[in-house]
Amino acid sequence: MSFAPQSILVTGGAGFIGSNFIHSFLAGNPGSQVTNLDVLTYAGNLNNLRTLENNPAYSFVRGDIGDATLVAQLLTERKVDAVVHFAAESHVDRSISGPEIFVRTNVLGTQVLLEESRKHWQSGVVNDFRFLQISTDEVYGSLGESGFFTEETPLAPNSPYSASKAGADMLVRAYHETYGMPTLNTRCSNNYGPFHFPEKLIPLLIHNIINRKPLPVYGDGKNVRDWLHVNDHAAAVEVVLKTAAPGSIYNIGGNNEWFNIDIVNLVCDLLDERLGRSSGENRTLITFVKDRPGHDRRYAIDASRLKRDLGWEPAYTFERGIAETIEWYLSHQEWVAEVTSGSYREYYTQQYGGAA
Ligand code: NAD
Ligand code: DAU
Repeated sequence: MSFAPQSILVTGGAGFIGSNFIHSFLAGNPGSQVTNLDVLTYAGNLNNLRTLENNPAYSFVRGDIGDATLVAQLLTERKVDAVVHFAAESHVDRSISGPEIFVRTNVLGTQVLLEESRKHWQSGVVNDFRFLQISTDEVYGSLGESGFFTEETPLAPNSPYSASKAGADMLVRAYHETYGMPTLNTRCSNNYGPFHFPEKLIPLLIHNIINRKPLPVYGDGKNVRDWLHVNDHAAAVEVVLKTAAPGSIYNIGGNNEWFNIDIVNLVCDLLDERLGRSSGENRTLITFVKDRPGHDRRYAIDASRLKRDLGWEPAYTFERGIAETIEWYLSHQEWVAEVTSGSYREYYTQQYGGAA
């Protein structure tokens, strides 16, 4: 089965993974149109897409996925034949201190997007249609020392963030089962790479090391995450969109498990060398801090279904990916300063309207 979308609505395309996806999709699919619908929260930054500003295949609309009128208008006017839904509140720590917005965006926002997509698909404005829900391995909860998450692992989310993503996944499932809507669902492990907001572990480490700030390690540092380069995630999303059977779910992961403390030590050592600091100097910045409440111990993805059915495999080794990511942050310190100061938000409000 092969599906060739002509007009894609990407939600949350100004965020980390969405912006990387838009770059790679447009580069590989000349002739397709991409509309980026993003409300520009603290995590959205149009500088991630600056090189596309004059590309006629790309357009940006500032708006909320929960705005049914706007979503319906975009779907109809642009004859959208695929929705690739990245928009979300995505940071676990923020979901612990303020869960409400996570339910509003991730659950209710997804429901609005699904409902307007259902009406659009049933109206027959386009011949074929897909709704791709971008989800996370966190919906499966936490693993012990062995084993992997498969697509059959029961959902057991532990944080308000993962609970809201699991809720959205269940709605996607229900729209397929109830209405026969051609939905797809991917669940990926931890991403790293360019344009990653520096509240997440890897960009936070790089940024703090450059600036000789403390490196907070939660708990004993022995939690395990399974890291995948964002370009590999983007490639997997494209393969699923074009070739997966409607109703299917695919795990995405790179079989690349690390204890947090080992990642911290690695980034310290690579930056000792890169910044000409003495061996072990950056490790002195490591500071063990109070653990995250409900902190999932281990994630590990079994992505064999994706490899077997659709032929996807990661292209990046971790050695290459982490080295390139460090170089990217070293050469984009202005980007980091900008996204952490929030000064760009007023400018966007003048350009595109909406709340600052
Ligand atoms: P991000 O926080 O960097 O970006 C989220 C984007 O969504 C931002 O541009 C933000 O402005 C936008 N947004 C938020 N609320 C919105 C709303 N109501 N309407 C329109 N736009 C809105 O997130 P990310 O890390 O790029 O994650 C993207 C998706 O991938 C999320 O759904 C997340 O659950 C999933 N995911 C992330 C990872 C990861 O490691 N970062 C791994 C697996 C899955
Ligand atoms: O697994 C996929 C998920 O990965 C995505 O669904 C989420 O959107 C994304 O944020 C990410 O969630 P994590 O909680 O795993 O990522 P984070 O970068 O916040 O933390 C990674 C690990 O590092 C986790 O075990 C917590 C720990 N950590 C994090 C920070 C920010 C620290 O020890 N210190 C820190 O300062």
